[in-house]
Amino acid sequence: MTIQWFPGHMTSARKKAAETMAVVDVVIEVVDARLPEASTNPMVHELRRQRQRPCLKVLNKSDLADPAATREWITWYDRQPGVRAVAVSGKNAGEVARLPGLCQGLAPHRNDNVKPLRMMIMGIPNVGKSTLMNALVGRRIARVGDEPAVTKSQQSQPLGPRQWITDTPGLMWPKIEHDSDGYMLAASHAIGRNAVIDEEVAVFLADLLLARYPERLSGRYGLAVDGLDGVAVVEGIARRRALRARGGAPDLEKASLVLMQDYRDGKLGRISLETPQTRRAMLERGSGSASETAEPPEIIPGS
Ligand code: G4P
Repeated sequence: MTIQWFPGHMTSARKKAAETMAVVDVVIEVVDARLPEASTNPMVHELRRQRQRPCLKVLNKSDLADPAATREWITWYDRQPGVRAVAVSGKNAGEVARLPGLCQGLAPHRNDNVKPLRMMIMGIPNVGKSTLMNALVGRRIARVGDEPAVTKSQQSQPLGPRQWITDTPGLMWPKIEHDSDGYMLAASHAIGRNAVIDEEVAVFLADLLLARYPERLSGRYGLAVDGLDGVAVVEGIARRRALRARGGAPDLEKASLVLMQDYRDGKLGRISLETPQTRRAMLERGSGSASETAEPPEIIPGS
């Protein structure tokens, strides 16, 4: 089954985004550096193509991502026509300050008081759009929050006499095609907790970590990971942390939350859930499983 997650306000947000796109010069598309393609909304690409707008692809939260994977992603995106990619941490004002200049390079003709550069920020919920917007404007205008879809209306702000920027609400799309994308998004908290079962997401995450960063699991939880699968890792975390359900069995739900929170907070080190190679391999297999070994667990449709 596939994750379906499209609250009503997303429909009107899409319509508004399409209208705004008509009157801007450059799209700043924010994605999560740990899962850049899984956190890319295909609707943004489609809207951009209809209007032929160039795109600055911002791989945000790069402080949490594996630097080697991020470098590969930058090369991958820079090869795409009309796209320039940059990795930043939205919490680092100096890095964020580079963004308008990079946008200017994509629309050099918009550079005076009569024709100011008009930019718009797009991206799915929780990738850090509000954080970037606040850093760009130099004050708190957008509400930052770790629950997805906190920003709900568009706001335009001048960045000086020659530049304008418009913030847009987090935009999801109606159907996530690959199960693994749904799991990666849920693990990274771009999909709300009502949409998926924590335990299934944690098992997916554990399988992926076993395949790509097994030493991080042994380092943080003291597990001997050889021969383990994702379920055994979650059980192991429950045991090591003495998390017990009623009757004394390992509390897999609590252990799942521990694993996901540690990943989200960067406590497992800098981790990328996908690379251009794993993405290509997943698409070639036509499956949704991002790690070589993991079988995607069953998934339920969201609300
Ligand atoms: P959104 O507008 O796209 O929905 O995202 P928002 O800016 O609200 O950011 C979502 C969460 O991600 C916030 O965490 C924010 O601080 C965090 N975040 C944004 N950019 C970065 C980044 O580059 N690196 C890291 N590590 N985190 C980032 P929060 O837990 O709600 O708030 P806070 O306690 O971190 O301030």
